[in-house]
Amino acid sequence: MPNAVFEAVRTVLAIREFDPRPLPEDVVRRILEAGRLTASARNVQPWHFVLVRDRQGLRKLGSLVRTGPYTAGAAAAVIVGYEKATGQYAVSDASRAIQSMLLVAWGDGVGSNWTGFTGLENVRLEFGLPDTYDVLAVVPFGYPKRNVIGKKKRKPFDEVVSSERFGSPLG
Ligand SMILES: Cc1cc2nc3c(=O)[nH]c(=O)nc-3n(C[C@H](O)[C@H](O)[C@H](O)COP(=O)(O)O)c2cc1C
Repeated sequence: MPNAVFEAVRTVLAIREFDPRPLPEDVVRRILEAGRLTASARNVQPWHFVLVRDRQGLRKLGSLVRTGPYTAGAAAAVIVGYEKATGQYAVSDASRAIQSMLLVAWGDGVGSNWTGFTGLENVRLEFGLPDTYDVLAVVPFGYPKRNVIGKKKRKPFDEVVSSERFGSPLG
C-alpha cells in the first residue's frame, strides 16, 4: 500500500538551485504549520520561525550563511531560532521541526535544504531575534530548478541496521 510519508522520506533531497517562481500562500503557510505542529521534549516548543520572502532579505541570508549562498535565489527562507534557556533538548526539537517543514514542502513539490548550524549571530542580529534565541539554521524553499528525483546516496541497509544485537543483519 503506498505511504505518502515514506515516499517523501525516500525521495526528498537537498535542493540548492531554485526556480524563482513565488510559492503559493497556502503552501508557505502549510510549511510553517508543519514546524509549529511538531512535537518537542516536554512540549516546550522552544522555536521561532521567521519567514523571509523579500528578495533583499534572501540575498542578505545568502551572504550571511557561508554554507548556503544559494538562499539568495530561493523563493522564501525560514530562519529557525530556539530559546536558549529551554535546555538541552532545544536543538533536537528545532531540528525535528526543520525536518517536518522539509518533508511537507517536498510533498507540495517544493525543494529546500538545511543551511548553517547554530550560533548564526549575524543572522540573529540582522533579522531582529532577541538575544535569548540562538539561530539553529536557515532553510531556503523554492521549486527545484531541475528534476533531481532518484539521486539519493545512502549507506546500505545492513550497514546501518541490526536485528536484536549490533552487527546481526535483519536479513
Ligand atoms: C544538520 C544538517 C546541516 C546541514 N548543513 C548544510 C549546509 O550548511 N549547507 C548545505 O548546502 N547543506 C547542508 N545540509 C544538507 C546535507 O549536506 C545533505 O542533506 C546531505 O549531503 C545529503 O544529501 P541529500 O539530502 O540530497 O540526500 C545539512 C544537513 C543537515 C541534516
